[in-house]
Amino acid sequence: MALPVVIMIVLAVALTSTIVFYTNSDYVPRITMTNGLFSIHKEDNSSVFFNVDSSSNYMDVCALPVYDVWHPSIKKFVKPYSPVKNCDKKREPITELKNGEWKILQKGANCSARCYKEDGYKNVKKGEWMKPGRVDCETLEAVCWEKQKEVYGYLHNQVLKKSINSTTIYKNPPNVFVFLVDSLSRGAAKRSLPKTLQFLSNTLKSVEFPFINKVGENSQPNAFALWFGKQVEKAKQIGGRELPVDWNTKQFCDRHLDNETHIFRDFANYGYVTMHAEDWSKQVIDSWPFCKGFKNSPVHHSMRPFQLAYEDKVSSIVKGSLEGKQCRLRDHAIFEYFQQWLTVYKDQPKFSWLWLNEPVHSNFNGATWYDDFYLEFFQKNQELFSNSFVFFMADHGFRVGNGDLFKSSIGNLEKSNPYLAISVPNEIRTKNPQILEILRKNAKSLQTHYDTRATFLDVLKYQPLSAFSDRKRINTPTEKGSSYLREQPEFPRTCGTLPIPQQYCICQVKTTNVNDPFLQATQGKRLINHINELIEKGNLTDICMKYEFKEVSEMKSLGVTNSTSTSYHMYKISVKVHGSPAHFDTLLMHNEKTDSVEFEKVTRLDTYGHSADCTGDRGFQKLCYCKVQQLLTTTTTTTKAPK
Ligand SMILES: *[C@@H]1O[C@H](CO)[C@@H](O)[C@H](O)[C@H]1NC(C)=O
Ligand SMILES: *[C@@H]1O[C@H](CO)[C@@H](O)[C@H](O)[C@H]1NC(C)=O
Ligand SMILES: *[C@@H]1O[C@H](CO)[C@@H](O)[C@H](O)[C@H]1NC(C)=O
Ligand SMILES: *[C@@H]1O[C@H](CO)[C@@H](O)[C@H](O)[C@H]1NC(C)=O
Ligand SMILES: *[C@@H]1O[C@H](CO)[C@@H](O)[C@H](O)[C@H]1NC(C)=O
Ligand SMILES: *[C@@H]1O[C@H](CO)[C@@H](O)[C@H](O)[C@H]1NC(C)=O
Repeated sequence: MALPVVIMIVLAVALTSTIVFYTNSDYVPRITMTNGLFSIHKEDNSSVFFNVDSSSNYMDVCALPVYDVWHPSIKKFVKPYSPVKNCDKKREPITELKNGEWKILQKGANCSARCYKEDGYKNVKKGEWMKPGRVDCETLEAVCWEKQKEVYGYLHNQVLKKSINSTTIYKNPPNVFVFLVDSLSRGAAKRSLPKTLQFLSNTLKSVEFPFINKVGENSQPNAFALWFGKQVEKAKQIGGRELPVDWNTKQFCDRHLDNETHIFRDFANYGYVTMHAEDWSKQVIDSWPFCKGFKNSPVHHSMRPFQLAYEDKVSSIVKGSLEGKQCRLRDHAIFEYFQQWLTVYKDQPKFSWLWLNEPVHSNFNGATWYDDFYLEFFQKNQELFSNSFVFFMADHGFRVGNGDLFKSSIGNLEKSNPYLAISVPNEIRTKNPQILEILRKNAKSLQTHYDTRATFLDVLKYQPLSAFSDRKRINTPTEKGSSYLREQPEFPRTCGTLPIPQQYCICQVKTTNVNDPFLQATQGKRLINHINELIEKGNLTDICMKYEFKEVSEMKSLGVTNSTSTSYHMYKISVKVHGSPAHFDTLLMHNEKTDSVEFEKVTRLDTYGHSADCTGDRGFQKLCYCKVQQLLTTTTTTTKAPK
């Protein structure tokens, strides 16, 4: 692989009360002055940072993680990967859906097709078998038989134009296209998608934001931040303060969200045609595994009927046709649909959000194959994308375990550091070159999905008022973030000032290994008791194993102190148990005075896969190890880790 090797950059120094400064777009830290406030410390070779320490002044300072994405400690996990390896390229489809009509391309073949139509947002209605001719549905299953035996299957899709009132509030608003690759960290994007990123940066002049911090563990809470501007994951902010939650479980999960203001409605209200597509049917905000989500489609076009049909309704041959053996994946279907949608609504302003799980979610190297795939798609649409806002991004980094990945400090960091690059329409950046300057400036600080969201809203509602020339701050009290297209508020951007759970904070703090076996065992057992208690509270003791402490695999004291109490300690602790591969990890806050402990969200370092399937949709996948382990069979219903 001829991949560019980024030279490692080490050692940065912070100023008294500001963030680390950088000299250029490579984020090379400039050593300006030291005043003794922040220590620079090196660690062993498994940790590669630079380590400016923001422990003692986390409100004012964020030591940003600048590191070599090809450092040996992460490079050793990088392998080529292809989901269509050895696929049968010769198998051409023998049915076709084109211009609203379906056809059999092979003479004499005995084929029929049937429609799947949206029935609410979570169901599809199956139509009757039909012979070739016109169809009025977007999702069509075609099957051919020889004698009585099914020998061929294909799931077609098409975009049927709707009459959408796209009376826009502003004249000729720019298209906004979002490509979200689930679980793609900044580091993984650099390693896996070099050609795509180069195209974005060279051709579309995109600006990369290397310091995005996720605001929740998995996809759902991050989607809530992006689409609704709401914090839904309960957490503590650095220093121990409670991070306010906007919606509790009742509010974000146990009710339909149709009547809330969300990003798709916002764009539709301004005259945009909207589309959203995910490559699975459960979808990030609503159903994983049990939330109500939207009752009716929040967008003009979605691929949900396709995914629902694919997962639950179609024959196994049809299903197999999208699993790579015939060189075709669900992502092919999504991009074909998207391409059609672009054509069908050529003359209307468009807002789309593709949320792609398939590439990386469960595979650390999953994105590598997609480099050519994305590149080709972007190249094909170069002219359109050059004149649109394009957001290429992720929700969080890779987080489901891959051998010893999370023993590496880079692997750990990348979990919380999703990719983001933004490109501005050519016409706008030509007229207002400062728009790229402000983007580059803001890219040098810590940012969150709330700021990305504020940028969407700025593009939609506020920038058009000044033909995208306004760089001044604006006041949007209902939003937590600040647009990247403007000066951001002057306060230092740190995990102390932004709504970031301390558990996921990417700012670097001084850590010291805790080797005292007594302290390890005391706190390790407390964590295991805590997990057992959570299982008890969930009434799952019948089916889930009761854990027994085995050992602490790692314990680090984080230098973060809370100035009001010097007896407050924060530990990152990883614990193994007897009789199960479960390997737990969390932040533990210990108040020495009262000898009480508090825990952040417990996460898993091992790949838990199906080991908690017995809990069904009760939300205990991470904590439970089923007493009876179901054998992994090739049943069609697969349970996935939460997105
Ligand atoms: C770190 O790497 C250097 C250079 O490869 C090597 O000389 C040194 O022994 C390593 N240190 C540790 C603690 O592994
Ligand atoms: C075509 O396949 C269907 C379904 O198996 C079968 O019922 C029908 O008899 C077949 N028709 C011919 C002409 O073979
Ligand atoms: C389209 O929407 C605009 C703005 O909401 C409204 O003024 C107009 O009457 C609508 N046109 C049609 C044909 O519904
Ligand atoms: C320090 O901890 C105390 C007690 O947990 C808490 O009330 C206070 O808000 C914390 N201070 C900061 C700056 O986080
Ligand atoms: C949304 O509001 C409308 C009008 O008040 C109501 O009829 C509808 O049931 C609400 N939808 C949901 C999903 O709550
Ligand atoms: C567990 O069972 C108790 C008693 O039946 C009930 O009150 C509680 O709501 C249950 N908890 C959960 C999470 O189901």
